[in-house]
Amino acid sequence: MGRKLLLDKAHIEGIRYYDTYRSNGGYAAAEKALKSMGPEGVLEEVKKSGLRGRGGAGFPTGLKWSFIAKPEGVPRYLVCNADESEPGTFKDRYLMEFIPHLLIEGLLISSFALGANSAYIYIRGEYAWIPDILEQAIAEAKNKGWLGKNIMGTGFDLEIYVQRGAGAYICGEETALIESLEGKRGNPRIKPPFPAVKGLWMCPTVVNNVETLAAVVPIINIGGDEYIKYGTGKSTGTKLISACGNINKPGVYEIEMNISVEEFIYSDEYCGGIKNGKRLKACIPGGSSVPVLPANLLLKTAKGEARMMTYESLADGGFATGSMLGSGGFIVMDEDQCIVRNTLTFARFYHHESCGQCSPCREGTGWMKKVLQNIENGKGKMSDIDLLWDIQRKIEGNTICPLGDAAAWPVAAAIRHFRDEFEWHITHSDEALTRNFGLAHY
Ligand code: NAI
Ligand code: SF4
Repeated sequence: MGRKLLLDKAHIEGIRYYDTYRSNGGYAAAEKALKSMGPEGVLEEVKKSGLRGRGGAGFPTGLKWSFIAKPEGVPRYLVCNADESEPGTFKDRYLMEFIPHLLIEGLLISSFALGANSAYIYIRGEYAWIPDILEQAIAEAKNKGWLGKNIMGTGFDLEIYVQRGAGAYICGEETALIESLEGKRGNPRIKPPFPAVKGLWMCPTVVNNVETLAAVVPIINIGGDEYIKYGTGKSTGTKLISACGNINKPGVYEIEMNISVEEFIYSDEYCGGIKNGKRLKACIPGGSSVPVLPANLLLKTAKGEARMMTYESLADGGFATGSMLGSGGFIVMDEDQCIVRNTLTFARFYHHESCGQCSPCREGTGWMKKVLQNIENGKGKMSDIDLLWDIQRKIEGNTICPLGDAAAWPVAAAIRHFRDEFEWHITHSDEALTRNFGLAHY
């Protein structure tokens, strides 16, 4: 059994409420941090842990915190990105719904380390029932003296506010989120300046994902050196994976980052194998923005080594033969799934969610969708495949925010690994329209 640091107490009845959380060791890390470690001590421990941002980019958290500007008399803010909208990703929802105090405690410790007296949780609008859970946890924590003025007599003040989004995927991009939090349309800003220098209300701001902030709690409890032992290389600690698609046991799993992809898919502890005894065809291992991998490259790297559930191993080979751990949205496809149809589904999504600020993204996502629709609907031409390739290349790297890249990469990977499937669609248009197919045409 893999060891757990975040979900180890998730099964305890009533853990959502303060008394149960506290009587099971909750707020011990906050007490330790505030009373005996000091802000610098917390920062050092987080740096030592090697914790990387769990929202998708995997940026080192301690480094991000150390970038925060500290001009005299200017407030600093901590923003929790709970706008979890990446297709295939639903791990933060689980944390907030079942162990909200873990997030509140993580926010408290992190705000203390950053010297922030106001923290915001920006939560996606579709998680309509969760803000009430968070508000209740905040009220309980405040009632017990963990929020408000002079917390535990340390002189540190903190208020946490919950802000609901209105259902736009782009508001998960940190600068769009900040714009939205300020009451404006959620258009991404050009970086630099990074939020650490000019963020909310143009003040120094750190934006961290829900799971990242929750992970600070066990790091303070067990120490950075111990945390490292739960992973391998630059993938330290545990990671939440939301597994979905054609598997026997979809759900949210906490893994130590030292297991193989094969073990994650086939062991009964996790996904329990492919549904209905079918064959594995492909997988998107880190949410819809990362490249799809065919089964052979998913289980083994191009060097023939076992592919591991780590940042490094999943990216091994770059995009030619690798992908990314991303947000941990693990989408498994069996032999009956159609790559063209899947690619179209994602292209439609990115086109719909593009904010429209930059032409390559605004026009390119719509163009890719139309070309894919033609291929899927039996009206495609062979030249459309090269056209698609050309469009995605012109989007990648030419936009303000990563949504452009996120729209381009899945198309590129689908063509790179499954070009013959696109060709088959074009040469067998009638058949492609009327039957399900996967590996059969190979
Ligand atoms: P990024 O790599 O641009 O930035 C990572 C973080 O490091 C940001 O907070 C940024 O401000 C900070 N940073 C980087 N360089 C810095 C510097 N020199 N000074 C100060 N701060 C610096 O990536 P981003 O835009 O934060 O995230 C993109 C990822 O988000 C994608 O790879 C995708 O996997 C993921 N994503 C996740 C979603 C979800 O629902 N969880 C939704 C959409 C995308
Ligand atoms: Fe908007 Fe797309 Fe440009 Fe991002 S890449 S700023 S979503 S148009």
